[in-house]
Amino acid sequence: MKRISLTQYLVEQQREHGLIPSQLRLLIEVVARACKHIAIAVNKGALGEVLGSAGTENVQGEVQKKLDVISNEVLIEANEWGGHLAAMASEEMDSIHVVPNRYPQGEYMLLFDPLDGSSNIDVNVSIGTIFSVLRKIGHARGVSEQDFLQPGKQQAAAGYCVYGPQTTLVLTVGNGVALFTLDRETGSWVLTQQDLRIPEDTKEFAINMSNRRHWAAPVTRYIDECLAGKHGPRGKDFNMRWVGSMVADVHRILSRGGVFLYPWDAREPGQAGKLRLMYEANPMAFLVEQAGGAATNGRERILDLVPTRLHERVSVVLGSKHEVERVLAYHREAG
Ligand code: AHG
Ligand code: MN
Ligand code: MN
Repeated sequence: MKRISLTQYLVEQQREHGLIPSQLRLLIEVVARACKHIAIAVNKGALGEVLGSAGTENVQGEVQKKLDVISNEVLIEANEWGGHLAAMASEEMDSIHVVPNRYPQGEYMLLFDPLDGSSNIDVNVSIGTIFSVLRKIGHARGVSEQDFLQPGKQQAAAGYCVYGPQTTLVLTVGNGVALFTLDRETGSWVLTQQDLRIPEDTKEFAINMSNRRHWAAPVTRYIDECLAGKHGPRGKDFNMRWVGSMVADVHRILSRGGVFLYPWDAREPGQAGKLRLMYEANPMAFLVEQAGGAATNGRERILDLVPTRLHERVSVVLGSKHEVERVLAYHREAG
């Protein structure tokens, strides 16, 4: 079998479709390289003294794990000097990180969730890195938080890496979704699946059921109908899966279909949801749509939402198209 590396894939995408200018190619390669470093740290586990809490809190008031902090530093250091970026933003940093003056400033802006699934680190369950790429608008040298507040449909690229039994990278540059697997012997990312497609129908859902009593009525209705199975209104049995790392749950959906929900709930009535729009929901929504699925907050397409804050939160329903449409319809009917 002829092996296609990430580099070759990117070069060919540029040649055939004009989708990947050289700065974007460098950016994606640098992120992929940083993910390899994170994968090595993750694999060392207790031997690398990377488990447990860092003893600090991020801007959302969550306790940071050592790996949250390490992964954030790896991504910043790798991306700062290449000349492809103007600024970065991360779940683990209160405000944006503008590329220092000693380096050339590039045309892109990068957002990331450096380590997704933090609660799974110490129990050796799949975790990952999620990233989103935006174009810098205008030619002025400065960058402000305002420049980042673009709707997700303007993303130039998005992807994630899963640190699981295999280390995989899933990427879109707006021309379908490609999957790369890390070959540990050669250290290279090898294209192992092209054009991932999410089936329109499914019998599998993913939601944190322990929050059921806090959900809004349309979500409870949808899940209760799934649970009623063959003898309920859906007329078929559903299976449930919940890893608790968005990367792993979304990866399953990109692999075999399904629907993922992290809806608004009454525990934090003032927040739109738990997940963050700009570096969790938007990149995943871009990938899911590129694979033929759908992504909504229950009322609107996620990629159409105009962010008002860097760390804005959002309600998320994504995956197999017909199920997402059903959840949308239940919200509409509820008014
Ligand atoms: P992070 O580790 O980056 O803070 O994100 C965790 C997210 C997401 O990965 C997952 O779907 C969700 O939190 C799980 O949260 P709960 O266990 O609170 O339901
Ligand atoms: Mn996350
Ligand atoms: Mn995180």
